[in-house]
Amino acid sequence: MSKNFTLDTASLISPDISSNHTPSTPLKLGIMASGNGSNFEAVAQAIQAGQLNAQIQVLIYNNPEAKAAVRATNWGVEAVLLNHRDYKSRAKFDGQVVQTLQQYDVEWVILAGWMRLLTPVLIDAFADKIINIHPSLLPSFKGIHAVEQALAAGVKITGCTVHLVCLEVDSGPILMQAAVPVLPDDTAETLHARIQIQEHRILPQAIALAAQRQLQLTSKG
Ligand code: GRF
Repeated sequence: MSKNFTLDTASLISPDISSNHTPSTPLKLGIMASGNGSNFEAVAQAIQAGQLNAQIQVLIYNNPEAKAAVRATNWGVEAVLLNHRDYKSRAKFDGQVVQTLQQYDVEWVILAGWMRLLTPVLIDAFADKIINIHPSLLPSFKGIHAVEQALAAGVKITGCTVHLVCLEVDSGPILMQAAVPVLPDDTAETLHARIQIQEHRILPQAIALAAQRQLQLTSKG
């Protein structure tokens, strides 16, 4: 006899981590964004609310139209435009990114909707200290249009992932994930909007977690 099976999606969502994951010294963040910047906003709000002990040293954006720049200015964070079109190669562009991050004394780099592939120039300069947020449950649906990919595949659950960045796209060690059910009438827009609610919740927590882990590794020598 078959039973009706109801999936308890709430139990799939990453639990909130306790505040003792918040490091005692403020983390110096450099945020990189190409678009709307709602994740920038979520990090800024978490800092203001005392949920993440950090300060945003700079926002780097590569698209002159990025709303993230307006958000940064509203938060009193310096927004630096580095337009990739002005550089001859990805490596040269990343070289300028690294220089800017160093100039602003950045310790952790947060890719919050950064729509450029990274080269070893940037990855090696901030080894294990670059964090990305991606709108799917990795390793499913890597790359662009992850929400559309999930809809096309007909999955019933998708979500978001915060992970450390390595050279292979959307593939580094996973820090946190949150699950989001796909509803029958979902469009890419409605589904992405619900995924973003979870992104805003877990990104600040995952930053704290990454810093905490790094601290534990360092103190173990
Ligand atoms: C997010 O969905 C993130 O997962 C992806 O790009 C989007 C950025 O959104 N990498 P926003 O610009 O932070 O609103």
